[in-house]
Amino acid sequence: MADFFVEPSAGIAGRLRVPGDKSISHRALMLGAIAAGTTRVTGFLEGEDCLSTLQAVARLGVTVHRPGPGEVHVEGAGLRGLKAPDGVLDMGNAGTAMRLFMGLMSAQPFDTELIGDASLMRRPMERVAKPLRSMGARIETQDGRPPVRIQGGADLHGIRYEMPVASAQVKSAVLLAGLYAQGETTVVEPAVTRDHTERMLQSFGVAVTARGGTVSVSPPAQLEATSVAVPGDFSSAAFFIVAACIGAREPVVIEGVGVNPTRTGLLEMLALMGADLRLVNHRSAGAEPVADIEVRPARLRGVRVPERLVPLAIDEFPAFFVAAACAEGETLVTGAEELRVKESDRIAVMARGLDAVGVRNEVLPDGLRIEGGPLGGGVVDSHGDHRVAMSFAIASLRASAAIQIRDVANVATSFPGFADLARAVGLKLHERP
Ligand code: S3P
Repeated sequence: MADFFVEPSAGIAGRLRVPGDKSISHRALMLGAIAAGTTRVTGFLEGEDCLSTLQAVARLGVTVHRPGPGEVHVEGAGLRGLKAPDGVLDMGNAGTAMRLFMGLMSAQPFDTELIGDASLMRRPMERVAKPLRSMGARIETQDGRPPVRIQGGADLHGIRYEMPVASAQVKSAVLLAGLYAQGETTVVEPAVTRDHTERMLQSFGVAVTARGGTVSVSPPAQLEATSVAVPGDFSSAAFFIVAACIGAREPVVIEGVGVNPTRTGLLEMLALMGADLRLVNHRSAGAEPVADIEVRPARLRGVRVPERLVPLAIDEFPAFFVAAACAEGETLVTGAEELRVKESDRIAVMARGLDAVGVRNEVLPDGLRIEGGPLGGGVVDSHGDHRVAMSFAIASLRASAAIQIRDVANVATSFPGFADLARAVGLKLHERP
């Protein structure tokens, strides 16, 4: 198990790029796999999570080439061309891979079993299994968790599903199953969640209608292969956005970041705290909006986070809690109970980490109250959660002494090269095995 040691530094500066978007990379492989023709992906995230999806797709009989860094060519097998894998499919740490594959595999003529690493084996899967069963899928979980066993050959029919939790993974799994179902499949969201699946289905020629939180799809004759240019991952950029707010020496520019409005709630939250942020050079990467994000240091004030922003920033709370720790006054996050079922219980694990560096906080069932103040050094256990590890790495910008972060190997699931990039912009970070 590797650790990070991060010493206080004089602050960060410079222009940088972050690796490709994880959510979009997973989806490009899955849709490419069932499309007719070759899908060419650039900017693909070569992190462990997406490589789990890539391996799974290959084991389903799809030929995948990797001609260069960030480039993937997927020779689609067509909507009905996937083949039975020769054993269980291991999703590693990737919740998105497991949940989206549940939707896709429910509609195949063969059986599949999905497993993952210790963290993924603890995560809830009934939220996906339930609506899929109501479409006719035959799925078993073990006490609600993986392994997930899917019996092939089910005839699926469309449903109208009102999701009890705001989850893009649940929505996406149901929509993917809907590609094979008889009749229309509709998902109603309790709050807006990331819409990459809807956008990408449209790029592959599938008619998707999305209006006011209601998304519908009907089974197409086929998906047409396309090119996917994956933008920089906003969730990876988030660490450097917060780092620049709390500790930039000069303006920091993060180039080529996906700024889909269903992902950028963090920008609004930081703006409420008084952050100095600008989106410039707007353009698009296929179906997704892209911009450069300019950040200048600012004095942040504690805020009460509007609950409507929570699903739009769901993966950014570890970084945001660090911003709150560096702000003046109290910050209150509520309505965020979903954080408890991410790669770790991010409310409990972040609270313990903040305790370790001397930041006062109070754990709530659905959030956290944080009192901004001086940060000390300390030893933080990331519990194998990549985003917790990276959040405490940037906290070092305001810490009075070194922070040791334990169990950071999973940073490579979403952000390969994080340590090098962090050092390049000025963090004093060392890795120790
Ligand atoms: C994701 C959806 C979110 C997010 C995850 C990626 C996706 O999960 O936390 O990192 O790609 O659809 P939920 O659907 O559980 O909110």
